[in-house]
Amino acid sequence: MSDRSSHRPILMFDSGVGGLTVLREARVLMPDRRFVYVADDKAFPYGAWEEPALQAHILDLFAKLLDRFQPAISVIACNTASTLVIDALRETFPGHPFVGTVPAIKPAAERTRSGLVSVLATPGTVKRQYTRDLIGKWAQKCHVRLVGSNNLAGLAEAYMREGFVDEEAVRAEIAPCFVQHDDLRTDIVVLACTHYPFLANRMRKTAPWPVDWIDPAEAIARRALSLLPAVDGPLPQSEPDIAVFTSGKPDFAISRLMQGFGLSAR
Ligand code: DGL
Repeated sequence: MSDRSSHRPILMFDSGVGGLTVLREARVLMPDRRFVYVADDKAFPYGAWEEPALQAHILDLFAKLLDRFQPAISVIACNTASTLVIDALRETFPGHPFVGTVPAIKPAAERTRSGLVSVLATPGTVKRQYTRDLIGKWAQKCHVRLVGSNNLAGLAEAYMREGFVDEEAVRAEIAPCFVQHDDLRTDIVVLACTHYPFLANRMRKTAPWPVDWIDPAEAIARRALSLLPAVDGPLPQSEPDIAVFTSGKPDFAISRLMQGFGLSAR
C-alpha cells in the first residue's frame, strides 16, 4: 500500500461517548487502521445548543483537529452535529473526506410495515431542516413522529460511566415514540443519536411493544471504509489509538471506559 493516507488515523468525532457505538463497528471493519476518538465533552450536550453558535464552534474546533491529527478521514459520529454542519465542514475543508451520521429515515421508510415510524433524537436534531428534508425526500408515504429527548444522551453517558441507568427515566423518554392508530402501531424507531444504542436493551425492556430499533453505526463504518483507499496487509502500528477530550480532564470512570474500547485517554 503506497498511499500515505493509509498511515494517517481515522478521526471519530462526537460530543461525548456516543461515537463509541460507531467506533466499535469501524474497528471490526478496519482493524488495521489507527483511530483518534475526539469527544467534545466540554461542549456536551450538543442537543441544547443554538444552531449558529454550535456551527461556529464545530468549524473552529475542526480547523484545530485537522491540523493536529492530519486524519485520512473524519467521521462525524453525531447526528446533532452532522445535521447542522456536515455541508459547512465539506465546504470549509475541501479535499478532506467527511462521513456524516444523519437519521436513518430512508431505511426506516423502506422497512416499515405499518407506515408508522418514530425518530428518537436530541432536540437539536429534531428541529433541523436537514431532518425535515430527509422525511420529505424518503418518507412521504409514512407517518413520521419526531421525538426530541432532553435527557437520553445524558442518561447514556451516566450509564456508560456508572453502569446503572434509571429504567423509569428511559421508559418516560421513549414513550412518545409509540403511536397507535386503529389497528396500526409504530413498528420502527430510528436511533438518531449515537449515544442511544448503548441503552438499546433498556429501551427494549421498557417499550410498550416490540419494535425494530435502527442503529446506523455499521452503515456509517461501511461508508468510511468505502471512502478510504484499500490496504494491502497490515499497516505499521506506530502509535496507539487515543481518545481526546476537549475538557482536557477525563475522570477515572471515563478513562477506564476508553481503556475498555482500546483507547488511551488524553
Ligand atoms: N451523540 C450525539 C448525536 O448523535 C448527541 C449528544 C448530544 O446532545 O451532545 O446526536
